Amino acid sequence: MKYLFVLPLCLLAAPLAAQSTTPADLVAQYSAEAGTEASADRGRDLFLATHTGGKPDTPSCTTCHSPDPKAMGQARTGKPIDPLAPSANSERFTDLKFVEKWFGRNCNSVFGRDCTAAEKADVVAWLSSL
Ligand code: HEC
Repeated sequence: MKYLFVLPLCLLAAPLAAQSTTPADLVAQYSAEAGTEASADRGRDLFLATHTGGKPDTPSCTTCHSPDPKAMGQARTGKPIDPLAPSANSERFTDLKFVEKWFGRNCNSVFGRDCTAAEKADVVAWLSSL
C-alpha cells in the first residue's frame, strides 16, 4: 500500500529538481540530436565571431563572456559573469535546464534565433577543451 503513494511522489518531484548532466554528456546529447559530430574549432569560431541578426548591442558571445572563457565576463548591467570554461568553473554545464535557458536567451540576443543542436554541441565541445 505504501508504494502506491511513494511512486507518484517521486514522479512529481523529478521534473522539479535540477537535471544534472556533464559537459561530455551534453556534447554527446546535442551531437546525437544534430546527427553530426561536434567540432571544437567551429565552436570557437562561433563564439569569437561578430554576428548580425540579433540585438545591435550584443553582436558576439564575447560581448558579455570574455574572449577568454577561462576569465570572468561582464553582463550589460556590469554584473560579473563567472568563467564559462568548465576547467575554470566546475559548475558549468552540469544542469541541463540552466544550460538550455541561457543558450535560449543568449543565442536570441546574438543571432536573433535559437542555436541549433549542432551549434550547441560545438560550443560546449570547445569550452570543455580549454
Ligand atoms: C547579454 C550578455 C550575454 C551574451 C551576449 C551572451 N551571454 Fe551567455 N550568459 C550570460 C549570462 C548573464 C549568463 C548567466 C549567468 C552565469 O551563468 O554566470 C550566461 C550563461 C551562459 C551559459 C550557461 C552555461 C552553464 O551551464 O552554466 C551558456 C552555455 C552561455 N551563456 C553561452 C553563450 C553563447 C554561446 C553566447 C553567444 C551566442 C552567449 N552566451 C552570449 C550573458 C550573455
